[in-house]
Amino acid sequence: MTPLVFSFLTLFPELLEPFAREAIIGKACGRGLIDVNLVNMRDFAENKHLKVDDTPYGGGAGMVIRVDVAQRALHSLPPADEVILFTPAGQRFDQRVAEELAQKSHLVFLCGRYEGFDARVEGLVTRELSIGDFVMMGGEAAAACVLEAVSRLRPGVLGDEESHQADSFSSGLLDYPEYTRPLEWQGQAVPAVLTSGNHAAIRQWRRGEALRRTLERRPDLLNTAPLAPADSATLLNLGVHAEQLAHWGAPPPPAQRRRKKDTSSS
Ligand SMILES: C[S@@+](CC[C@H](N)C(=O)[O-])C[C@H]1O[C@@H](n2cnc3c(N)ncnc32)[C@H](O)[C@@H]1O
Repeated sequence: MTPLVFSFLTLFPELLEPFAREAIIGKACGRGLIDVNLVNMRDFAENKHLKVDDTPYGGGAGMVIRVDVAQRALHSLPPADEVILFTPAGQRFDQRVAEELAQKSHLVFLCGRYEGFDARVEGLVTRELSIGDFVMMGGEAAAACVLEAVSRLRPGVLGDEESHQADSFSSGLLDYPEYTRPLEWQGQAVPAVLTSGNHAAIRQWRRGEALRRTLERRPDLLNTAPLAPADSATLLNLGVHAEQLAHWGAPPPPAQRRRKKDTSSS
């Protein structure tokens, strides 16, 4: 399989070097599963002071990164599937976008600094992404988040192929809680079902906990999460009203389905 190449256009490549070198991403690079290419935009400044930015037209605080510098840096790269600009004004990055990007073979990340890029850079990009409603000092941390989230979806990057499938958001729900040793800690015991060896009961408990957590913390996710009839029964037991289930488009719980069938056949 050809590696997914991440090219970062940045003024601070040294901030991203550890991400490319260490931990699972470092290993994935070493195994040829992904490739991280750090490009210093300063190398594409053409004036004698190697200035990549200038003052904003119309006045105001801060400096703006020049579009011609960004364009020359972009043109130095092989063709990309996506050129992504990091900006607080972009589309909110989430697991769905990560899944989409994980299908590509070359992603270019434009990391801003100062007041960001000259607005004409928007004509050079395929997408603008934000990692949330807050303002950071640069796009490198945002781009590193996307590198982390996308890389782990590539085949072979995680040790256990299935380990990202149960993660929060991948299944449409938040993840269930996990426990490890010690079995008892400060009066808190690990739920008994997890040490029962009954795999069907463990699966059922985990699904129930994922539903409970999602209902408590992120009920908005239930609008789009794929739900089975057994999930509807669990949600009813958790106090959700039938009208709410219908609003989420959840299927009827198993008992209700049977009753409906009985009625129609009589
Ligand atoms: C100080 S910010 C510029 C903020 C810009 N003046 C504004 O208010 O939208 C500098 C750079 O950090 C990056 N950045 C900051 N916050 C971000 C966020 N929430 N998501 C993605 N990138 C962000 C962008 O690349 C941006 O160009």
